[in-house]
Amino acid sequence: MATTTAESATPAQPKLIFGRFRFWLFMVGLVVILTGSLFGYDQGVISGALQFITKAFHLSTTLQEVVTSWVTLGALVGALLAGGLADRLGRQRAMIIGGILFAIGALGESLAPGTWILVISRFVVGFGVGIASVAGPLYAAEMAPSSVRGRYVSSYQLAITIGILLADISDAILSPGGKWRLMLGLSIAPGVLLVLIAMAMPDTPRWYLRAGRRADAKKTLAKVVGGPDVDGRLDTMQAELAETSGVKWKDVFAPSLRRALWVGIGLAVFQQVTGINAVIYYSDKIFSLAGFTTPHDQTVATIISVGLVNVLATLIAVAWVDKFGRKPLLYTGLIGMTVGLVAIAASFAFLDRHPTTGGGPSVTGIVTLIAMIVYIASFAFSLGPVVWTLIAEIFPNRIRGKAMAVATAFNWGAAFIVSATFLSIMNAIGEPATFLIFAALCVVTFFWVKVKVPETKGKSLEQIQEAWAEHDQARQAPKTLSHATD
Ligand code: BGC
Repeated sequence: MATTTAESATPAQPKLIFGRFRFWLFMVGLVVILTGSLFGYDQGVISGALQFITKAFHLSTTLQEVVTSWVTLGALVGALLAGGLADRLGRQRAMIIGGILFAIGALGESLAPGTWILVISRFVVGFGVGIASVAGPLYAAEMAPSSVRGRYVSSYQLAITIGILLADISDAILSPGGKWRLMLGLSIAPGVLLVLIAMAMPDTPRWYLRAGRRADAKKTLAKVVGGPDVDGRLDTMQAELAETSGVKWKDVFAPSLRRALWVGIGLAVFQQVTGINAVIYYSDKIFSLAGFTTPHDQTVATIISVGLVNVLATLIAVAWVDKFGRKPLLYTGLIGMTVGLVAIAASFAFLDRHPTTGGGPSVTGIVTLIAMIVYIASFAFSLGPVVWTLIAEIFPNRIRGKAMAVATAFNWGAAFIVSATFLSIMNAIGEPATFLIFAALCVVTFFWVKVKVPETKGKSLEQIQEAWAEHDQARQAPKTLSHATD
């Protein structure tokens, strides 16, 4: 496929839908929504299914934690392997593998005859989620033109919350019949859909260039994005690739990048140890303890306080993050989360002395509901999306992919530890103390953000790197002096 000057000067015309929207970009958006919602669905669905599984398989507290948390363990492993897989086989094939694993795992979950098949299937689902959660956003970031890249990346977070909401709705519809197998099995459908759509999509121009397939890269760029000077843009991409190729894992841990890496890891870990997934996974259980006696009441309370509020508040963040800046959103959110958690702790402390007798939600139940809304809303417009925005911004281009993988792995690791221990901690020290620990960790996060996290609002990725370098120089100067005689 020889390139002529006349050919590169003619703007490529991608296929349009409704005469306006670029068809293939729309499909890229669909892929992001699907990978995000798969992740969200599986995060959310267990909250409604757990009580029925516990009854069916006579699960101890530890086994309830294993059933819940092994999705995150699988996702941790999947996310660690996903980068290599997406580089070797391509982003598109990595998404297909993620979708297949997800569908197989979901089938296994829904047919599981006993606990261990269920646990293994949860791990397989998580493995698929982990791969898709890296390959999907990577695919979108590489496919989308820079003018809409931010929107594509933030729609991933929105998709997670939509997945959680869909899971809550399916829990509500299916819980009166106790149909937990169907709750878990329903996620086969989006898994299969992801596989089918991904099979119809090309890989990204950047991946084709890496693989030495310039003709395919050119065809894809013209088809998906279009516009003038396709060859010129491919040349720029090729130059960027040359800069990032040959980067080793040890480069991520180089002393000059250490501060950025710690900020990335800190954000990822604090996002989890402030309790979000404990609340999401165990929300029905929290509501049942707070006086919502029927499974139906519990799931309705969950749909409102977790599902809907999460989606709406995330929409606010996506719209405001560039206006208000990252740190003000984080501060406000962390204050709200602390207030919500202290109120949940207080209502449980009250509940301990005045146990509910059944017959509909008690005053404590209503207070817990409101406190949960405050907590989830505060998370969803702050730590939820802003952490991922910052993690995508703070690393230099050269090591961004690998450094983001490290931060993501820490995020899954922290999510695993929290969900694998939450019930046991609650049994050991009681609900009020458990929620107070999460509240205390919100306060720690607040001050850590204040001291360690840079404001990136309105800065280009290059300016952010310059700011790190200046900071390091300022710190290095007195050190160099004091170590001059070493
Ligand atoms: C977190 C997930 C969490 C979700 C809730 C994401 O930013 O990484 O662990 O389940 O937000 O909306």
